[in-house]
Amino acid sequence: MPKKVIEIRNLSYSYPDGTAALKDIGLDIFEAESLGVIGPNGAGKSTLLLHLNGILRGNNHIRILDSEINERTLSLVRRKVGLVFQHPDDQLFMPSVFDDVAFGPLNMGLSKEEVHHAVQGALKEVDMLDCIRRPSHHLSAGQKKRVSLATVLSMSPEILVLDEPSSDLDPKHRQDLINVLKRLSITKIIATHDLDLVLEVCSRVVLLDNGKLAAAGNVLEIFNNRKLLEEHNLGIPAKLCRTV
Ligand SMILES: Nc1ncnc2c1ncn2[C@@H]1O[C@H](COP(=O)(O)OP(=O)(O)OP(=O)(O)O)[C@@H](O)[C@H]1O
Ligand SMILES: [Mg+2]
Repeated sequence: MPKKVIEIRNLSYSYPDGTAALKDIGLDIFEAESLGVIGPNGAGKSTLLLHLNGILRGNNHIRILDSEINERTLSLVRRKVGLVFQHPDDQLFMPSVFDDVAFGPLNMGLSKEEVHHAVQGALKEVDMLDCIRRPSHHLSAGQKKRVSLATVLSMSPEILVLDEPSSDLDPKHRQDLINVLKRLSITKIIATHDLDLVLEVCSRVVLLDNGKLAAAGNVLEIFNNRKLLEEHNLGIPAKLCRTV
């Protein structure tokens, strides 16, 4: 039986303006699995992901790697859970690409050499080493997205949480991303509208709609349920369309 690394119970969250974004979510996530989080716009995918490293705190029923998320465990949780935001401008805030990608490793107390090694490795992984000295805010949308991923890869997280990782990527770099994700054997939680990426990378899928968990199951089981996908305004992965 694989080890449970995330346990979510009765998670509800309303934004300060009263918008109820998550309603009574219960979910277990297991070590080394790749979980796809799908659902229409406004379903609550990003809101759910923001709870996984304590940026949002709906209630106290989330356990990450055997710790409740609270003030005492927050910094440890953030070191172990690498979260890539949907919008790179929420992730990148330092004067250069190097500084952005070095920020995490520096905070982890690594030596100068270790930081350089981690930054170079992470930027190489996303094919952005050539831009190491450039200001992050001058990069294109897809380049920013790739640097955002590098800012968490450089910390070697135990759990990777990605919000729309393939949006804005050109086909080559989208495929590179898929290859990187397939190669990484850590736990991955990926919210996306890119159902073909889910098909290639994930073993299990949860479908959110209107803040609720509408379905959960293995990827093919969910993707072959056309009625379910249509009911929730979702398409069918292009790869599976060809087999109809
Ligand atoms: N800062 C905020 N303040 C108020 N409401 C918000 C805020 N952020 C999101 N919401 C609302 O919460 C709900 C869930 O939004 P969320 O961003 O989690 O959806 P999503 O599934 O990630 O959508 P998308 O596919 O567009 O990224 C939506 O109704 C949204 O309008
Ligand atoms: Mg979102």
